[in-house]
Amino acid sequence: MIISFCNQKGGVGKTTLTVLVALALTEVNRKVAIWDRDPQGSARLSLEGSAVVTYPETADITIIDTPPNLSDEFRDSVKRADKVVLVASPYPVDLWATKTTAEEIRKARGNKGKPMILFNRVRKGTAFGDQDLAAIANQVGLPNYKSTISLREAYAQAHVVGWRALSAAQREEVFSAALEIVT
Ligand SMILES: Nc1ncnc2c1ncn2[C@@H]1O[C@H](COP(=O)(O)OP(=O)(O)O)[C@@H](O)[C@H]1O
Ligand SMILES: [Mg+2]
Repeated sequence: MIISFCNQKGGVGKTTLTVLVALALTEVNRKVAIWDRDPQGSARLSLEGSAVVTYPETADITIIDTPPNLSDEFRDSVKRADKVVLVASPYPVDLWATKTTAEEIRKARGNKGKPMILFNRVRKGTAFGDQDLAAIANQVGLPNYKSTISLREAYAQAHVVGWRALSAAQREEVFSAALEIVT
């Protein structure tokens, strides 16, 4: 299975989700490969020394971290994916970019299966965090995963210390998203 994390906007959390989901699936004994197609190469750096291997080594699940633009690499990643995860935050400026990306994905994939939105940086108890996320996803014309990812320092720390940066509750949150994506 190939999963691509995308959004033309930088900073929404594509690389962070790539790393967290790769680590979570490794924890449940899946062989995971990372294909880092962002020239910055941060996903590959973060996963160095982990059990996650590098594409083209074969694996049960290959995760593509896509660049923050609408390049040929982006389109190719979207075309070959079984699952396209559109990473978005529930903030207005990010949603504009998400709409454009959704349209580009539709053009690239035709009827190969809709992407789904994964909301990141969700802050429960705030105006934007408590919105009806399904309604927001609907504005983009896409379904959303029930699982969401909160804004947590530990998720940024995971880039350098890996899975052990996460508390039990944070692990649960990431497992929930990872399993929802692969099933
Ligand atoms: N849920 C989150 N909680 C805390 N920090 C986050 C979260 N998601 C992303 N970040 C941080 O935000 C920054 C941008 O995220 P990144 O994954 O690099 O975005 P992208 O790959 O879409 O450009 C990074 O410093 C990352 O650690
Ligand atoms: Mg990135």
